[in-house]
Amino acid sequence: SAEQRVDDLISRMTLTEKAGQMSQYVGLEHITASEKQLTEEQLNSSDAHGFYPGLSIEDLKMMIENGEIGSFLHVVNVKEANTLQQHAMKSRLGIPLIIGIDAIHGNALVRGATVYPSPISAASSFNLDLVKKSSTETAKEMRANGSHWTFTPNVDIVRDPRWGRVGETFGEDPYLVAKMGVATVEGLQQDDFKGHDKVIANAKHFVGGGDSINGLNLAPLDVSERTLRQDYFPPFKEVVDAGVFTIMAAHNEVNGVPSHGNKFILDQVLREEWGFSGFVVSDWLDVDRLKTLHRVVPTHKEAVHLTIDSGMDMNMHGPNFAPPIIELVNEDRLTEKRIDESVKPILLAKFRLGLFDTPYVDEALRDKVNFHPEHQKTSLAMARESIVLLKNDNNILPFKAPKNIFITGPNADAHTILGDWSLPQPEENVTTVLEGLQQVSSKQVNIDYLDVGKQVKTLTDKQISEAAKRAKSADVSIVVVGENPLRFDNEGKTSGENVARAELDLYGKQLELIKAVHSAGKPVIVVLVNGRPISEPWLVENVDAIVEAWEPGSFGGQAVAEVLYGQVNPSAKMPISVPYSAGHIQSIYNHKPSTYFKNYVDLPTKNLYEFGFGLSYSTFEYSNLTLDKTQINKDGSATATVSVTNTSDVAGDEIVQLYIRDNYSQVTRPVKELKGFKRIHVPANSAVDVSFKINPDMLAYYNLAMQWGVEAGDFTLMLGSSSKDTDLQTITLNVKK
Ligand code: IFM
Repeated sequence: SAEQRVDDLISRMTLTEKAGQMSQYVGLEHITASEKQLTEEQLNSSDAHGFYPGLSIEDLKMMIENGEIGSFLHVVNVKEANTLQQHAMKSRLGIPLIIGIDAIHGNALVRGATVYPSPISAASSFNLDLVKKSSTETAKEMRANGSHWTFTPNVDIVRDPRWGRVGETFGEDPYLVAKMGVATVEGLQQDDFKGHDKVIANAKHFVGGGDSINGLNLAPLDVSERTLRQDYFPPFKEVVDAGVFTIMAAHNEVNGVPSHGNKFILDQVLREEWGFSGFVVSDWLDVDRLKTLHRVVPTHKEAVHLTIDSGMDMNMHGPNFAPPIIELVNEDRLTEKRIDESVKPILLAKFRLGLFDTPYVDEALRDKVNFHPEHQKTSLAMARESIVLLKNDNNILPFKAPKNIFITGPNADAHTILGDWSLPQPEENVTTVLEGLQQVSSKQVNIDYLDVGKQVKTLTDKQISEAAKRAKSADVSIVVVGENPLRFDNEGKTSGENVARAELDLYGKQLELIKAVHSAGKPVIVVLVNGRPISEPWLVENVDAIVEAWEPGSFGGQAVAEVLYGQVNPSAKMPISVPYSAGHIQSIYNHKPSTYFKNYVDLPTKNLYEFGFGLSYSTFEYSNLTLDKTQINKDGSATATVSVTNTSDVAGDEIVQLYIRDNYSQVTRPVKELKGFKRIHVPANSAVDVSFKINPDMLAYYNLAMQWGVEAGDFTLMLGSSSKDTDLQTITLNVKK
């Protein structure tokens, strides 16, 4: 078996070789490309960009041959992947490399890949099958390009949307995040990841990476253990139960202890309580930061000791990880047994992935698999199901055969629809919103496009007044605004990794542009392309329609146009609340009862849009909410059923949501929590019954004594089309003493 082969191999390995397996370096092309952009000073510092002072590419190749490197990340060229493996094959034991990459929504760091909608889009679709399918396809594209391991899913829950990375998460709700995370892992790994078209997944950032204070990446998180266990842990626990093979520690400290040196989370919770048997990888440079940033240890060697002792197994992208390990073992400060515990799952992954059979990939495969027509279809299908219609006054949408359409805005013809974690893609593989509109509109429609550049930051007054003029001759105007998440666009980006914002409004002069277009007195449709919620009350009050496109991927523009024309009936729902302003954070829907006991004096207290909200061209009515039994035992279950009627002439999909509230509890409980959802299709003028089984797990929580369980008493079940009270039908379920 693979396990026996691992044991046999370990028995023949030297300590140097074992420490090598725990060391991961950055791909060579990535190094050279990035180094070109660095100053001399940055090149010589190990922290700013973290490349390897004093080590040439040739040195790295020698290190592979000496068995001192076990893994690479960000190898974006299949030839390079094969070259690196050739060097690994020259090592004494011929142990192949495992190559990781951030294939977050498609293998999009590779040119020519299928770019699927970002995770925030995927979450809006509430479609687990599509998430699974896109992940399986991503795995195929990765393997064809020489990678075996993706650093996804990101199962952070987001409670501060100023954080730049909201787009690569599944939003704010632990239940939805967990389900999306599990679907991703199942799609990528397909149970056992055996063979040559599957990859291993990685859940990150353990824990609380999406909720650092002030929304700034790496900043601390300070929450009670109850909140950690109740809200932050469950998505990780569920993906561990689903077999995720690797976990990445979070950059940040949690309750005063940096995650990379946190035995409680990496060892006690992850391994002892949850039985995780894969391996833990550090995040970029974070082992060093135990010393340089967090200052919990005074030397690099102590940082290596602390992290391994806490449960870390592989160091991402840091030089000089192996030598201290050898010293620490020789000094009896780490046991070789502990090192073996790290090396075993790393080798097991390599065996199960088939890398010992052949570490190479057929270079001709890439062109057959990348951007495969089937993958394109999935990307488009997901885009169609993930666009949220937030506002549609007087049913301005779908279009009623306009003759003249004016379209403008920095995101109208930009590749920002691809989201973060993508590198430039061929023009012909990307359908921008403008291109989608041109493609979907009939020949009779006159489309007037005002090019205002592709930067959300740099609109000029001249462009704005030109837009006001041009909008006058149109029947309807479309303004495509939002954010720029493109990581290669250093000057322009406003969201993405390490791109936090203090405000959540439209960046720069984008609102002025919309106001100018609006002043023409014709209907205005705003299309948002963005990775985090945009808080702009003026839009909600004044424009005719708002289409939240998020980051809809390669075919995003086509999907947006189809929604505008009604060829696609929008069905997606918000996976995150939209606060009134950044000052309103935390704005989560699953808040505690006392959160809004008081109001703000200067601005409305309520959110602009609630979690779970999204309009359709159909109208759905909920009725006849029933329970098969109104009382159950603590370990019992019941079934709730509701009827969803489509009272319109348009067939549509609805996402039926189940929320639960524990009416009285020893410890305060949220006003409601999502505990189930179903995406259903309802033909025009007909009804569908939807049932949810209510299990004890949906009612349980951590009580005063921190015990997980169900308390007797009444629970309110809420079923409907969003988390807004007015969108929900309620019924009471009693749990017997
Ligand atoms: O996977 C990422 C992580 O999410 C943030 N830091 C860098 C890693 C590798 O790119």
